[in-house]
Amino acid sequence: MLLKLCILPGDGIGPEVTDQAVLVLQAVAISFGHQLQLQQKNVGGAALAVANDPLPPDTLHACLDSSAVLLGAVGSPAFDKNPNHLRPEAGLLRLRRELGAYANLRPAVCFPAIEDCSPLRAEVVRGTDIMIVRELLGGLYFGEPRSITGAPGQRLAINTMTYSEPEIERIARVAFELAAKRRNRVLSVDKANVLECSRLWREVVTRCAKDFPDVQLSHMYVDSAAMSLVQHPKEFDVVLTENMFGDILSDQAGAIVGSLGLLASASIGGKIGLYEPVHGSAPSIAGNGIANPLGAILSAAMLLRYSFQLEREAACIENAVSYVLEKGARTSDLAHAGQTPVSTSEMGRKVVEAMKLSAVAA
Ligand code: IPM
Ligand code: MG
Repeated sequence: MLLKLCILPGDGIGPEVTDQAVLVLQAVAISFGHQLQLQQKNVGGAALAVANDPLPPDTLHACLDSSAVLLGAVGSPAFDKNPNHLRPEAGLLRLRRELGAYANLRPAVCFPAIEDCSPLRAEVVRGTDIMIVRELLGGLYFGEPRSITGAPGQRLAINTMTYSEPEIERIARVAFELAAKRRNRVLSVDKANVLECSRLWREVVTRCAKDFPDVQLSHMYVDSAAMSLVQHPKEFDVVLTENMFGDILSDQAGAIVGSLGLLASASIGGKIGLYEPVHGSAPSIAGNGIANPLGAILSAAMLLRYSFQLEREAACIENAVSYVLEKGARTSDLAHAGQTPVSTSEMGRKVVEAMKLSAVAA
């Protein structure tokens, strides 16, 4: 199969972790007989620095011309004072919108080998396997009007949360369909005791559930869900929620399973899927070669699964990640006192080696 990908390394640790994900993809392509065609472009701060645009037309065209996009991270303190549309994050948000990527899947799985990396007791976190389904093109992130106006000292800031029935319905369907292939449970997270958006959300999700009689739907307010997530993470199967709540809960889920550095994501729903680790650009450790590349590598696995239906190849990467963790490889975010951490590139190399072994075995 021809795998035509656009690679957007982005900012901070983005380039370091993306390099490793690309090496893994190259190894998969060789082992399974696929042809990889890569094009690399700037996004976020990296693009602002050279083109004064966080998503230059050339980058967008390359993405639209590919079959899937793999992104590292965006965000850089250098642009903190910039107006909204000239911030690195604006490039990512525009890209998500241009690709029509309304469904953001963020799995949070506790790998048995690193139960002890969770801040929670091993018996609490053991067996955790959550799929967060975050709505990605609505809510506060995109709602209009938005502004800061008025005289200094008297300024007023406005953001708007909006959700339409079709927007809620399409993301709800994604969650129910995923649940039907998992443990048949959807927890819809909202704030229906306060927000109109959430009341409509709850109504539409409940209506949608009727088309999926085998899936059990429950609802929780987001504050209570955040609490429950640290108390009983293994009780969660599919978590369906709006954009901002999903952003917050997915970082929390990352910490619960040991490190945000492990979390991968797929942003799908449009013609071209966008795949990115959940962690940000982590400017404080950028360039040191110590970032955890597993979130990026697992995002590459999701890319193969969701954009190309290459389930065997995706599983091969995931098994290799599980294997290297079992063998004791730990980047610094996972290493305990007394353990010598491996570098970003060593971790990537170990995954490639493990994968070649298992591909031969398969
Ligand atoms: C994420 C990130 C982004 C988001 C930022 C970088 C715009 O935090 O993917 O979770 O808020 O969606
Ligand atoms: Mg986030």
